[in-house]
Amino acid sequence: MLLGDFLKEGISRLEPLYPTPEARDIILSLCESRLGIGRYTYATDPQYSIGQESLAVLSEDLDRLAAAEPLQYVLGFSDFHGHRFKVTPDVLIPRPETEILCDEAIKIAHNHGPAPKVLDLCTGSGCIAWTMALEVPGALVYGIDVSPKALSVASGQDLSPACHGWLDQPSPSFLQADILQAPPHFPCGQFDLILSNPPYVMDSQKKEMRPNVLEYEPSIALFVPDEDPLVFYRAVARWSQALLAPGGTGIAEINELFGDEVRDLFLSSGFPQVSILKDFSKKNRFVKFAK
Ligand SMILES: C[S@@+](CC[C@H](N)C(=O)[O-])C[C@H]1O[C@@H](n2cnc3c(N)ncnc32)[C@H](O)[C@@H]1O
Repeated sequence: MLLGDFLKEGISRLEPLYPTPEARDIILSLCESRLGIGRYTYATDPQYSIGQESLAVLSEDLDRLAAAEPLQYVLGFSDFHGHRFKVTPDVLIPRPETEILCDEAIKIAHNHGPAPKVLDLCTGSGCIAWTMALEVPGALVYGIDVSPKALSVASGQDLSPACHGWLDQPSPSFLQADILQAPPHFPCGQFDLILSNPPYVMDSQKKEMRPNVLEYEPSIALFVPDEDPLVFYRAVARWSQALLAPGGTGIAEINELFGDEVRDLFLSSGFPQVSILKDFSKKNRFVKFAK
């Protein structure tokens, strides 16, 4: 089958689920990854023909995509902050906004002096914890999650720091804990940075979400009750009161609807400096607090 014909068929099967430019982008990414070709091969080599074996794989992929499964689960990976993370339906697919949290945290960590200690609450795939371990030389990083399946994905990432140039850098340590409960004892003592992307989408916001998220991503990673949308921020504040070192900084991703409420929560939890940071769309997306 000609690549161009597969593209046409793929796009038309995804158009009921996604706007056409997004459907096209998904199919181009699929072909790029599965066939190892350039994104524009269909234009530069209009006679490019897909072999039988590859076509069988692509057809299976297309059936999964047409059933609204996200491309990242179909391929088994997601790129985040320049690193390739394994993802399964047990973990949230890392979002581009969360890269902003990492950028900010890396800047702070670099100004902090050698070997900063970093705690990532609600680690999921471990994308934040691993990014810190890979990009901050000497960082000692812990990732916490309540889900054993997520922790197995996080600790099974094939991202050894040695492959990225930090020969003596340890991989992050991943531990199971419920952040709605009291924090455990950490042998390393307090942390210089506490980071978190906790669940923050209200149940009532489900109706605005698409089937690729609602039907495939783990709801434990996403949703909080409408009656208590800040439940995880009270938990992050409690853990940070106990575990953030004096002079340390916390950053957590937030629901854009609750910037003021989250700022007030951290101020009234005894953190003297609290600010709200924006994302790419200028929406309130992060709370930053210092001890
Ligand atoms: C929004 S996802 C974030 C995953 C990852 N940090 C990221 O940015 O892509 C939230 C994570 O919180 C975890 N989680 C939910 N409830 C929790 C709890 N009570 N204690 C610890 N982790 C929890 C979920 O398992 C999920 O992995």
